[in-house]
Amino acid sequence: MGQVHVLDHPLIQHKLTLMRQVETGAKDFRELLSEIATLMCYEVTRDLPMEEIEIETPICKCKSRVITGKKLGIVPILRAGLGMVDGFVNLIPTCKVGHIGLYRDPETHLPVEYYCKLPPDVGEREIIVVDPMLATGGSSSDAISMLKARGCKNIRLVCLVGVPEGITKVQQDHPDVDIFIAAIDEKLNENKYIVPGLGDAGDRIFGTK
Ligand code: PRP
Ligand code: URA
Repeated sequence: MGQVHVLDHPLIQHKLTLMRQVETGAKDFRELLSEIATLMCYEVTRDLPMEEIEIETPICKCKSRVITGKKLGIVPILRAGLGMVDGFVNLIPTCKVGHIGLYRDPETHLPVEYYCKLPPDVGEREIIVVDPMLATGGSSSDAISMLKARGCKNIRLVCLVGVPEGITKVQQDHPDVDIFIAAIDEKLNENKYIVPGLGDAGDRIFGTK
């Protein structure tokens, strides 16, 4: 079973509280999400393998550590996942970015695929899927299935806010995937929105409502 890592660093929690507030406008919402994504990236990459290499400082030769192993790929789930990309790319400037387009059908709340563009060597990479919201879990689970169908074996999921139902769905469908999340909220409402949540993340990022 994949592990669930709750990232409860005070800076993340403080910024998330600001994001939740209804009076927070799109500009601040976007900036806060990007800042939180950077903070989460720091935790999500904590266990990357390292190796020692020989370098020369202005003083002498020495051994020093660098990240080794698989290259990284960031895959946002459109649209709201886009708001987390800069935060990751700021810290991992050489990573490749793929995009998966999914929207929730307003009636069934099931994800509908409309776009998928991934780096050609995606199967060789350590993939970090980003999406602020983990509600029913349908979108994240489908995105991970799409990645696995294209050869990805090492996948982690990073979300801002989720509920137990969504976490359980991803764990059941993808027991090999670790989940990193800033908050586990109480429940879903009748429209499958997270309660208390922060509303519709995509609309708040892009000002579409
Ligand atoms: C939101 C969110 C997730 C999904 C979560 O996207 O960004 O992708 O809902 O819900 P789920 O866990 O029940 O699948 P949405 O479908 O609203 O599209 P958008 O990002 O384009 O607004
Ligand atoms: N998608 C969102 O953007 N917000 C929710 O609360 C649930 C799904």
